[in-house]
Amino acid sequence: MTDITNKQLTNSQFKELQDFIYQKSGMFFPFSRKHYIEQKVMKRIAALRYNSFSNYLNILKHERIRSEIINLFNEVTVNETFFFRDLPQLEVLEKHIFPEAQTRGKKHLNILSAGCSSGEEPYTIAIIMREKFPQLSYNIVGIDISDLVVAKAIRGEYTQYAVRFVPKDYLEKYFSLTKQGNYKFHDHYKTNIKFHTLNLMELDTAPVNVSSFDVIFCRYVLIYFDRESKQEVINRFHDKIADNGYLILGNSESLFSVANNFRMLHFPSAIIYNRN
Ligand SMILES: C[S@@+](CC[C@H](N)C(=O)[O-])C[C@H]1O[C@@H](n2cnc3c(N)ncnc32)[C@H](O)[C@@H]1O
Repeated sequence: MTDITNKQLTNSQFKELQDFIYQKSGMFFPFSRKHYIEQKVMKRIAALRYNSFSNYLNILKHERIRSEIINLFNEVTVNETFFFRDLPQLEVLEKHIFPEAQTRGKKHLNILSAGCSSGEEPYTIAIIMREKFPQLSYNIVGIDISDLVVAKAIRGEYTQYAVRFVPKDYLEKYFSLTKQGNYKFHDHYKTNIKFHTLNLMELDTAPVNVSSFDVIFCRYVLIYFDRESKQEVINRFHDKIADNGYLILGNSESLFSVANNFRMLHFPSAIIYNRN
């Protein structure tokens, strides 16, 4: 029997889905986002040729089709990103964090891009490291809950819009122009960058080694989390960040009333965090 004739969820159906997404991912979609979630879930139900939301929820809850959870996350996540996003923060990286690591005698840095989306953030960091700190070796790990964006990150091909803030000389050096007019990040520069489909809420059970990072970027990811799940993620970061390691959140994000195990560092146009 169909329960989706008008393509709308009842309030209690929405609540069930809201709880499910929250428990699995930490993302909390308030009632004001009901229409957004409805559209996304109806798309999944149509793709599976179901005619019932209850059936769909059953599949999710009992993991009858394991990949369906990822398919749902592919739909509901917001993956907006671009190269050289938030220049003031990148300046802090270049003028403070990397030089300070060098002063402490570091020769190698491990960097995590948590919620890396389609790879623009980790590739930007790699360009900065190569251009400004060629004497420092590095490994960058990019993780995201959506396997679609991770596949895109691995492919490393971008529209002109995504690379609009890349300085011209870097564009010429790090990218080749495809026949379709896209910009492909050279394989040669990808060697120290690895991508994984991984849920931040499952960092502890990660099949890949995600620990002892000198810098963790987690920009514009936790804005979709409530306070409790933010705290959970921040505590995990605290365990996985090296002594003196840095945490960089999005420009408008803060740890105020979320965590006190990181120290806030103020720069003229950016705030970053240092592990206590
Ligand atoms: C708005 S994008 C930000 C991308 C990049 N950090 C930036 O600032 O340009 C947020 C990303 O976080 C990912 N994300 C959301 N919840 C996640 C979770 N629980 N685990 C891993 N990634 C998650 C989304 O899939 C999305 O690609």
